[in-house]
Amino acid sequence: MRPPGSRGNGERVAVRVMAAVEDPVVRFYDRLASDYHMIFGDWREAVCRQGEALDTLIRRVGGAAPGSVLDCSCGIGTQAIGLALRGYRVHATDLSPVSVGRAAREAESFGVSLTVGVADLRRLGTDVDGSFDVVLSCDNALAHLLSVDQVRLAARGMWSKVGPTGLLLVSIRDYDQFAGEKPRATMPRAFLTPEGRRVSFQIWDWAGDDVYTLHLFILRDVDGRWETAHHETRSRMIRRDELSGVLREAGCSEIRWHMPGDTGYDQPIVTAREGSR
Ligand SMILES: C[S@@+](CC[C@H](N)C(=O)[O-])C[C@H]1O[C@@H](n2cnc3c(N)ncnc32)[C@H](O)[C@@H]1O
Repeated sequence: MRPPGSRGNGERVAVRVMAAVEDPVVRFYDRLASDYHMIFGDWREAVCRQGEALDTLIRRVGGAAPGSVLDCSCGIGTQAIGLALRGYRVHATDLSPVSVGRAAREAESFGVSLTVGVADLRRLGTDVDGSFDVVLSCDNALAHLLSVDQVRLAARGMWSKVGPTGLLLVSIRDYDQFAGEKPRATMPRAFLTPEGRRVSFQIWDWAGDDVYTLHLFILRDVDGRWETAHHETRSRMIRRDELSGVLREAGCSEIRWHMPGDTGYDQPIVTAREGSR
């Protein structure tokens, strides 16, 4: 059954006419949505690989057979589609309407069904109905929240959607590995794809202790001419201790970190389960 207010594949996702369109995060991801797959060598392969890694972790930590999932920062659907391919019933939401629209279309291209919606993960309690066996936010979405208070709102919002025996699952970049250093850039990743050569990397301009302006570059070899796309947004470094503390404050129990070597997923993942709420 679809959560109330959700839309099925193929339907146009209505763009909310509201302040969100002025939100710099929305602008960044709406603009990036059509190119997002280009930060992967093979995005469709990544969908399947991430779906398998997350399914394995969910079964290990949650012990649940495929159930209902809320992916509350779904982007173009990398994890939402990966889990739908493995039998989960996925409701996929994001702040970026253009990304959500692409997630719905991509799901169709994989032959799976998602319900989708536009929602802010800081307001899930009011923006999304019902509760879910798994609530997840993957690939560092929380870094777009520029203060610990914003992360608190997100933690409360996500935890409020986890059903009585459910699981919360969040992945963030491994900021702890920098041990107090402020990196200026990520290593370039070069891909040789059927569409041609591509290079992707980020430049980070620090604007304080934790906050940086992220410049994402995607370079493409188009018939021998290199084209450069540049996208800019702000991010905030979140360390694992901070997120564990915020989750604890939000009422989460059984908070555990799972590192890439154990999960096959390329970021640290934190899970939390119902204790006694
Ligand atoms: C790095 S992308 C990851 C998308 C997707 N999980 C994936 O791995 O392909 C981060 C996503 O978080 C979303 N996001 C950021 N802030 C959000 C918020 N407050 N509420 C909902 N989504 C948000 C962005 O719109 C973007 O789609």
